[in-house]
Amino acid sequence: MIVNTELEQKGNLFPSEIINYYKDVDKLYFTTKNNVVLKVTVVRDSVIRFRYATTGKFEKDFSYGVTIHASTGYNKLRVTENETHYIITTSKLVCLVEKLSLQVSLYDAIDNKLINEDEIGFHWEESYEFGGDIVKMSKVCQKAESYYGLGDKPVDVNLKGKRFENWATDSYAFGKNTDPIYKAIPFYTAIQDNKSYGVFFDNTFKTHFDFSHERRNVTSFWAQGGEMNYYFIYGPKMEDVVKNYTDLTGKPHALPPLWALGFHQCKWSYYPESNVKKVTNTFRDLKIPCDAIYLDIDYMDGFRCFTWDKKYFPDPKRMVTELEDDGFKTVVIIDPGIKIDLEYDVFKEALDKDYFCKRADGPYIKGKVWPGECYFPDFTRPEVRDWWSGLFQELIEDIGVKGVWNDMNEPAVMDVPNKSFPDDVRHDFDGNPCSHRKAHNIYGTQMARATYHGLKKYAYPKRPFVITRSAYSGAQRYTSTWMGDNVATWEHLAIANNQAQRMAMSGFSFAGSDIGGFAEQPQGELFARWIQLGVFHAFCRVHSSRDHGAQEPWVFGEEITDIVRKFVELRYQLLPYLYTSFWKYINDGTPILKSLVLYDQEDEATHYRSDEFIYGEQILVCPIQEPNAKGRRMYIPRGKWYNFWTDELVEGGKELWVDADLDIMPIFIKEGTVLPKYPVQQFVGEMKFDEITLDVYYKNGQETSKLYDDAHDGYDYKKGRFSLRTFKVTGKKKELIIQQHKRGEFNANYTKFNIVFHNLPFAITSIQIDNAAIKLENINTAETQAITIDKEFTELHLFGN
Ligand code: GLC
Repeated sequence: MIVNTELEQKGNLFPSEIINYYKDVDKLYFTTKNNVVLKVTVVRDSVIRFRYATTGKFEKDFSYGVTIHASTGYNKLRVTENETHYIITTSKLVCLVEKLSLQVSLYDAIDNKLINEDEIGFHWEESYEFGGDIVKMSKVCQKAESYYGLGDKPVDVNLKGKRFENWATDSYAFGKNTDPIYKAIPFYTAIQDNKSYGVFFDNTFKTHFDFSHERRNVTSFWAQGGEMNYYFIYGPKMEDVVKNYTDLTGKPHALPPLWALGFHQCKWSYYPESNVKKVTNTFRDLKIPCDAIYLDIDYMDGFRCFTWDKKYFPDPKRMVTELEDDGFKTVVIIDPGIKIDLEYDVFKEALDKDYFCKRADGPYIKGKVWPGECYFPDFTRPEVRDWWSGLFQELIEDIGVKGVWNDMNEPAVMDVPNKSFPDDVRHDFDGNPCSHRKAHNIYGTQMARATYHGLKKYAYPKRPFVITRSAYSGAQRYTSTWMGDNVATWEHLAIANNQAQRMAMSGFSFAGSDIGGFAEQPQGELFARWIQLGVFHAFCRVHSSRDHGAQEPWVFGEEITDIVRKFVELRYQLLPYLYTSFWKYINDGTPILKSLVLYDQEDEATHYRSDEFIYGEQILVCPIQEPNAKGRRMYIPRGKWYNFWTDELVEGGKELWVDADLDIMPIFIKEGTVLPKYPVQQFVGEMKFDEITLDVYYKNGQETSKLYDDAHDGYDYKKGRFSLRTFKVTGKKKELIIQQHKRGEFNANYTKFNIVFHNLPFAITSIQIDNAAIKLENINTAETQAITIDKEFTELHLFGN
């Protein structure tokens, strides 16, 4: 079977010339002589959807990927034609559809420059094996074009020259370049001529992407079934492409509870209860902050989901309550495989209600997972999802578990060569019955969705917390994610770095790796370096496999324990900054991590950088990814940046050597930043504090920073009980002005800001707060320059000489 886009004319079929066109408000239909229909939907001025039918008829329009909350509407839509083309014009894009070939090209409506054009464009092959079509799209790869995104691919940030497949796959101990792994996120962004655009190929069949791998000047994508159905998303800024893709496929429905942004400790498995307590107590004894403890499969009775092994955990509710009293939230694993056991009520009920997936000829699909032989709920049926949500009542409402970890949901099946269901398994697909070929890639997302709804219901009025291994585009609406079973090697530390960046660029910011590596055991140095990186990922969890020894922060000796504590403390200090970044993410889709190309696409030196990234908006991070390092060379993006550890100011736009002994990782703060910091707590909510710190990094010029806050849990923030503070810093030679603007009704417990000034180029001679002079004794001019003031100030003005 031909599965690539190579011009093997014998298999490929092509649209012929357009013979009919009509427009229905935002939808334009072009029909060719050989009965191909191209339906162009103008979603927004910068987002155009292209859908092709090869038989004159479209399938029912249904997508798990696109959210019903996606923004629609445009300012302008004009369709004209000339001899050769139809011309569709919005305020951002001009799209040409060629009459003879149905080929499409897209131009910037403002400067008329080419953004993207079809090479062959849409073509297809009839699938003799399965029926339907193998649908294909090929586009010209423009000069110096680069590609990014595509979810969890374990490769460098720039995808150019590579070919990928999307088929969610259980990938124990995957390696660099293993493809596919757990997720299927058919979205990429590209940049050429300083114009960035994205393509979201919303097709859940196995999809393929080729970024000038097979042919230098061609980028193509194709699927083993379904329709050619893709969204073209124009920037020209890459950040706007990602924001628009995230708008289309959805932002998280709610902010995570703040504790979920704390540090999490996991292991396969902590049991019995005494061992769990030993771990949590050691965290408190050693004063390493931690908010969540995980129970892997061994908490269950014979790996039956929604049960407890009463030998190891005689009274789960008491244990969970005691852990909570000590500041630990309990997160438990739940897998999709339900043990075949007529005595087991979850199994019995699903069997009676006929909720399990079946093969084409009728029998249930039986597969081996941890509990032995299992059946698997069809999460693509709404009533099955409702039932599944209901199963969480006892765990969440009664026992008090705060988070659920969905694993093995590719779905993973053991002891079969393809590691999953056979292709013929039937799924409801929300009323669009289909085979596993179509449902495989969204199975995990639908499971996480059902879990999310259960937690949302039973955790109410608190916020739910879910984590998933498998995901399709849009899963970010319901859940956080981790990258699966990585390995304790230096190479994997770099992979984790790239995956987290790539996930953020693929609309999924709430992601992290198994810190330290899942398989095998890290040495202390690797563990320390991985913690340093991990505290800058939105999801921050240490996890390791059953067979490879202990991986708690204290097992590598005192030096490493101290380094881990230092960095976990830093994470807790920066929680208000992370929370603000998260708020931006759910508010407008701004990714929490930004690869340098996304941060500054105009600077071509960023297009191939993989190691450095921006955390939030103003912190530059570059992990140390090799042993015995005393520092490293790294690229500093344009602008001026303060070394976080030394306050040295460096000019970017170039590579620099940066010192970083084992207890240091290169971190830089953008000049002009106002960086909010909490005092160190052992867990979120441990302390009531009266002040928080604002680190102000002097800039000769202006910079704006934000600080979002709310009750850190619950939904009051959706009713206006949040606060959004904007700090505008204006630095002059002998002056510094900080103006604060506050929006929202929330009033945090603390009353004061301790403002710490970094690198003021003048000695302070006088200070005004809201135009009133204050006495200078207030300011400590010894080592640091700092002042403590009421948090509701509107203007702080420093004068110097
Ligand atoms: C899978 C998961 C891993 C988990 C293990 C046992 O390998 O990826 O995180 O610990 O199963 O449940």
